[in-house]
Amino acid sequence: MNVMKMFDLAGQVAVITGAGNGLGYQFAEAMAEAGADVVCADIDMQNNEATAERVRELGRKALTIRCDVTREAEVFALFQAADKEFGRVDIAFANAGIADQTPQPLHDYPTDNWNAVLAVNLQGVFYTDREALKIMVRQRRGKLINVASMWGLAGASSVAPIPAYNAAKGAVVNLTRELALEYATQNIQVNAICPGFFRTRLANGSYDDPEFVAAVTAFTPMDRVADASEIKGTALYLASHASSFTTGLMLVTDGGCMAK
Ligand SMILES: NC(=O)c1ccc[n+]([C@@H]2O[C@H](COP(=O)([O-])OP(=O)(O)OC[C@H]3O[C@@H](n4cnc5c(N)ncnc54)[C@H](O)[C@@H]3O)[C@@H](O)[C@H]2O)c1
Repeated sequence: MNVMKMFDLAGQVAVITGAGNGLGYQFAEAMAEAGADVVCADIDMQNNEATAERVRELGRKALTIRCDVTREAEVFALFQAADKEFGRVDIAFANAGIADQTPQPLHDYPTDNWNAVLAVNLQGVFYTDREALKIMVRQRRGKLINVASMWGLAGASSVAPIPAYNAAKGAVVNLTRELALEYATQNIQVNAICPGFFRTRLANGSYDDPEFVAAVTAFTPMDRVADASEIKGTALYLASHASSFTTGLMLVTDGGCMAK
């Protein structure tokens, strides 16, 4: 197959949670630019609609669904709606995520914060992966992409103490490996993206705080924060035939942080 053809997603359908902002918007744009129709899911419906509008501008179909990934029934309904509209789900990004609201070491860590982070960043991935896999198993085909973090691979406290985020992302990393094995013979590839510091609205606008940006820039060997759009190539590789023999991979896109 011609190598450029390997990246072609014409006729395919992608579901993206957290599509309204940040990396989710970039995933939606990348999928549509490569030819896929996109189901955009978020709790922020204003920005979710804006993402869908971008997909339509690119000549692809878009469906918007309000979906809180911490709610099992809403995730079930999301994939039901995608299946009803398009009859297939080729690609799914379990992307919706939140940051620790109050970074602090574990001995002072509030239970409510722990539960809130785990609910979105782990339970939400479980619901999303399970509903995506139901359809992918039926199709005997699929690309499931979990958005973890480099903080799923290493402790974060040299930058900030975020134990719940670390625990959740570490669990997503190993869940990805487990699912890669469970579905390896069924033509379903399960991989994770482990981003470093990308300029989004994660962590309540931390990326607008010069002190935060200076700290994470200093931590990053490439000496800069990534623009959110720099995730698009990573996403397209994992979503397309280009990664046909790749499963259980943690694709680290971090400007060199994990190489240290
Ligand atoms: N930006 C980074 O530097 C970075 C680094 C590593 C990992 N990540 C991961 O990337 C993913 C996307 O984050 P981002 O940086 O684009 O952040 P963001 O805040 O810009 O976007 C996250 C999106 O998820 C949505 N969301 C939040 N809770 C939700 C819920 N319960 N149900 C459905 N949608 C929900 C938000 O409304 C928002 O649209 C997250 O999983 C995050 O942990 C980001």
